[in-house]
Amino acid sequence: MSEQKKSRWSKLHNKLFEQNSLLLTVGILVTVSIGGIVEIAPLFYLDSTIEEVEGVRPYTPLEQLGRDIYIREGCYNCHSQMVRPLRDEVERYGHYSLAAESMYDHPFQWGSKRTGPDLARVGGKYSDEWHRDHLRNPQSVVPESIMPDYPFLETSELDYENVAANLRALRRVGVPYSDAMIENAVADITTQLDPYAADYDGFQERYPNALMRDFDGDPSRVTEMDALVAYLQVLGTMVDFSTYEAEADENLR
Ligand code: HEC
Repeated sequence: MSEQKKSRWSKLHNKLFEQNSLLLTVGILVTVSIGGIVEIAPLFYLDSTIEEVEGVRPYTPLEQLGRDIYIREGCYNCHSQMVRPLRDEVERYGHYSLAAESMYDHPFQWGSKRTGPDLARVGGKYSDEWHRDHLRNPQSVVPESIMPDYPFLETSELDYENVAANLRALRRVGVPYSDAMIENAVADITTQLDPYAADYDGFQERYPNALMRDFDGDPSRVTEMDALVAYLQVLGTMVDFSTYEAEADENLR
């Protein structure tokens, strides 16, 4: 553009927009909405912005009730469930959390405060017995602990009569519980607590790789301790990171 043309254009610009505040406002609105549409419109055509990862499955009814106890007792006030992709966190807790790992959490438990350590990868870190001792009396295993004790979990019967309704509600918000999972929900509580359960295969088909054992150390009862320990033991264990890493490397190549 020649100098002359440029100055003519800027004069016009000046007259039209900068001396007419209404037109300037309309101009700003048009420009900003173009930017907004470019960012927002693609989201209407995507089913999900979360990349699915192999291994992530809905919680078993027992784990789900354990999760409800975790929320009821306010464990999230002191514990987060999200390993951030920062070196110190990854070295301490393990692989950083993937979005897919909490895609079936309603509400999610990322948390915002760490009075105690992050729990996103606590599954398999300790034995069931350690968790029972720790929940009954944290100072018995970590003498300097300031975590409160929860001895009543071991003596409280688990209320699971209505667990099917629980799963149905979760299905409504997008957790892919099948009809078979909902139908078997009540029976699956006791099935998961028994490594010799008659419906072992059916259960494993519904919830691949779910741990099946008595979590509270007393096979004659179904307690809140059973549910909470089952939940803690599955945290962060659904994705097999040895194969996940290999696939991620493959994609980078
Ligand atoms: C007042 C804060 C507080 C609350 C509430 C709390 N914790 Fe803790 N928790 C801690 C602290 C501090 C530690 C670290 C010391 C220890 O291991 O006891 C801890 C440690 C843990 C650990 C061991 C983590 C690891 O990697 O070593 C687990 C598991 C745990 N808490 C589970 C729970 C559960 C489940 C609840 C709810 C029933 C809960 N906590 C409630 C403060 C809390």
